[in-house]
Amino acid sequence: MNDKELVAQHAARKIEDGMIVGLGTGSTANCFIEALAQRHHQEGLKVQTVSSSVVSAIKARELGLPLLAVEQLKGLDVYVDGADEVAPDMTLLKGRGFDLVREKLLAGASREFWVLINPGKRVGRIGERFPIPVEVMPFAWQLVKESLAAIGGKAELRQTENKDGLVVTSHGSLVLDTAFAEAFDSHTLDTVLNGIPGVVEHGIFSHLTSAVFCARDGRVEEQSA
Ligand code: 5RP
Repeated sequence: MNDKELVAQHAARKIEDGMIVGLGTGSTANCFIEALAQRHHQEGLKVQTVSSSVVSAIKARELGLPLLAVEQLKGLDVYVDGADEVAPDMTLLKGRGFDLVREKLLAGASREFWVLINPGKRVGRIGERFPIPVEVMPFAWQLVKESLAAIGGKAELRQTENKDGLVVTSHGSLVLDTAFAEAFDSHTLDTVLNGIPGVVEHGIFSHLTSAVFCARDGRVEEQSA
């Protein structure tokens, strides 16, 4: 079993009968969806799920997990997802998979948010390895880019992998990947980005994480808020 499967199974074992479970997006989240489906079918675990992306919804449906629409939800018990960077205070950077709008919506609406990682995701500060993904209304991208430059951010529109076009999110937004030369306080930047007109959402997840489960040397370490 690899680290992603290990940490996914660890999280799936903590899910209880009757819970509404949010499904994240990415390779680690996929392992969790598989582990949860296994418990659902083999142990009769009764859960309802809600997905953070089209990709996760397709996977959950294929594996026979009961799936709710986000529109039906008034809240959920736990949201389980991976992350691109995890700071010591459990602030996250997410959105390399560009489904961060629904991810943040579900993380914020959930009683608990569990983050599944390996030690390679840990950083000293957010933005250390990756630029900050900033999702923008398509018509606003140039003006938002200027606003980001004014606060020290160098933003580039995200391109498709083979560089033959721009990435468009499932909600029709564009993504400005924004690097900051100077170290910044992630909570302050979170607030500043939230206040820029034209920004739909961004990849800094502050004050949302309840627990980080990290697979290391065949064991899972837990860090709680
Ligand atoms: C998608 C995300 C993912 O959770 C993040 O990219 C981690 O992915 P993986 O588990 O494949 O490393 O934030 O928006």
